[in-house]
Amino acid sequence: MARPLEYGEPVLLWEEGKARTFLIRLEPGGEFHSHRGVILHDRIVGRPEGTRVLSGTGHPFFALRPRVGERMMKVRRRTQIVYPKDAGWLVLALDLFPGARVIEMGTGSGAFTILLCQLVGREGRVYTYDRREDFLENALCNLERYGLADRVEAGVLEAGQPFPEKDVDAVFLDLPEPWLAVPPAHSALAPGRPIALIVPTAEQLKATFQALEGAGFVALEAVELLERRVLVREREGVRPYERMVGFTGYLISARKAA
Ligand SMILES: C[S@@+](CC[C@H](N)C(=O)[O-])C[C@H]1O[C@@H](n2cnc3c(N)ncnc32)[C@H](O)[C@@H]1O
Repeated sequence: MARPLEYGEPVLLWEEGKARTFLIRLEPGGEFHSHRGVILHDRIVGRPEGTRVLSGTGHPFFALRPRVGERMMKVRRRTQIVYPKDAGWLVLALDLFPGARVIEMGTGSGAFTILLCQLVGREGRVYTYDRREDFLENALCNLERYGLADRVEAGVLEAGQPFPEKDVDAVFLDLPEPWLAVPPAHSALAPGRPIALIVPTAEQLKATFQALEGAGFVALEAVELLERRVLVREREGVRPYERMVGFTGYLISARKAA
């Protein structure tokens, strides 16, 4: 049975007509203010997800629980983040499952950590490392907001230093010099298990491939993904939007040879 929306939950208000979204946390007596007028949180609580609510000016919004990609996009950002477009490929490459233990380096804003936590589940563990303590604190706040902080162990670590964990199921690196962390990633991984990375330039891609081969990784792959959103209209015709995100990163995956 559908669980009604409750106080304390994050909710996405989707504005009809504009397809804009606003993330709010439902609070007793809380108010959402926009150019379309006010929506009282109390009018949303107790109703099913997907409920239609009218703002003070009579404009319709829909109250939805944010999906994992929307939670990633709505983190408080202190860094560039992994976008959902790339995240899907990366998590398939990482072959995650409930109960998996995964290392992430380059926590950043914790956007990708949110997805890792969701996929490893309550029994799994995400060991996430960054050189910046302030970034880790912000990322933990973002995870806390979605009730995921208890699946994470976060620590300050410099790329190149050994990871404390052994025999992990997967390693993900999002760093400017990922090749520094490749040998420690190899030591931490269980045989046969995958590593995945994202890098922003072709030079970094080449240097990373060299490091992966040098460390004993096999089955190396690199891809770039293009996403073109399509405008579906009743009268004017269906066609892609004129503008698109041109480039986000090169995605890499490899497996540890025994
Ligand atoms: C692009 S951000 C990662 C974004 C993250 N994947 C997300 O989705 O929110 C890269 C992170 O790598 C960290 N970093 C850069 N160089 C590092 C190094 N040598 N050792 C450890 N962390 C490093 C930065 O502090 C930054 O937080």
